[in-house]
Amino acid sequence: MNASILLLPGDGVGPEVVAGAASVLQAVASRFGHHFDLHEGLIGAAALRQNLPPLPGDTLAAARKADAILLGAVGDPAFDKGDSTRRPETALLQIRRELKLYANLRPAKLWPGLESAGPLKPAVVAGTDMLVVRELTGGLYYGEPRGMAADGSSAHNTMRYSRSEIERIARRAFDAARLRRKRVTSVDKMNVLETSRLWRQVVTDVAAGYPDVALDHMLVDSCAMRIALAPASFDVIVTENMFGDILSDEAGAVVGSLGLLPSASLGDGTGLFEPVHGSAPDIAGRNIANPIGAIGSAAMLLRHALKLEPEAVAVENAIGAALTSGCRTADLAEGMERKIGTKEMTDAIVKRLNASTFSVIRP
Ligand code: NAD
Ligand code: IPM
Ligand code: MN
Repeated sequence: MNASILLLPGDGVGPEVVAGAASVLQAVASRFGHHFDLHEGLIGAAALRQNLPPLPGDTLAAARKADAILLGAVGDPAFDKGDSTRRPETALLQIRRELKLYANLRPAKLWPGLESAGPLKPAVVAGTDMLVVRELTGGLYYGEPRGMAADGSSAHNTMRYSRSEIERIARRAFDAARLRRKRVTSVDKMNVLETSRLWRQVVTDVAAGYPDVALDHMLVDSCAMRIALAPASFDVIVTENMFGDILSDEAGAVVGSLGLLPSASLGDGTGLFEPVHGSAPDIAGRNIANPIGAIGSAAMLLRHALKLEPEAVAVENAIGAALTSGCRTADLAEGMERKIGTKEMTDAIVKRLNASTFSVIRP
């Protein structure tokens, strides 16, 4: 296969983890006989520093043309004081909206060997394997009106959802559940918010078309508590934009590190793949960031954008093999365990990918 993949490294640890994911993609190409054309674009503070807007027109045009996009992270404390037109994060909101990437899939599962890497007891995290399906182009992030009073005395945002926005993300969640353990938990705040009452009604309506999938509803505060208390009790969680943002970071801590979590942002056209974590300015530029979230995102790119399921599984197996053999970046290392860097973890994964034996059976 020939595929054109746009890399958007962005800010902070973004370039470090995208370099890791790019070398894994190249290794997949040579192992399986594909040709991936990997080219880079500017986004976030990396663009602002070149006196460009956070999402330059060239970057958006390249994104529309690519077969898939792999993004690192955006965000830089140096630009935290700017208005929204000069904030790195605006680029991410714009590209999600422009490409209509309304469905953000954020799987969080416990890798063998990481049972005690996080703060929870191994018996609590055992068996954790959840998928957060986050609505990505609606809700508080995009609702109008929004703004701040000129004198700074007040500010406002709007939470708005339409029936069709809820229907399409609910269908994504039920479709995903059919390929898993067939359980969907819809998360809302219907005891307070009208948008949540509509959310609950519409998800219940959509569920009627999926009699083989079990649906339950949970309030978001209680869900946050249950993710810490009994993470293995969840299969698919479907929720609105901001609740999904918050709950997925929590899921990262549960499975050992936010640096492990991959994601896929999907619409009806080009997909965008990015780790759940941000630019991590506290650890940037030191070769200590965990590249597994980005490498797992490359696996999701192979699966969802290029429909290369065996290749995606091979990457995931290589991540698992590296972890099982004891490779640990700083965020995962316990006690006296030896820590390796971003590049070394990447090399360990590439090595297992190259050493693996598998046969590709394609229909
Ligand atoms: P963050 O996700 O960048 O970091 C949170 C914590 O997790 C930090 O302690 C960090 O060191 C750690 N961490 C994150 N990624 C890691 C990795 N790969 N390996 C090891 N440890 C990792 O969140 P933050 O510090 O709240 O935000 C920093 C900046 O990133 C902000 O500007 C924010 O807006 C931006 N951000 C961007 C994205 C994105 O681009 N998708 C996501 C979240 C935050
Ligand atoms: C994420 C990030 C973004 C979000 C920010 C940087 C706009 O936190 O992708 O989870 O809130 O969606
Ligand atoms: Mn987030």
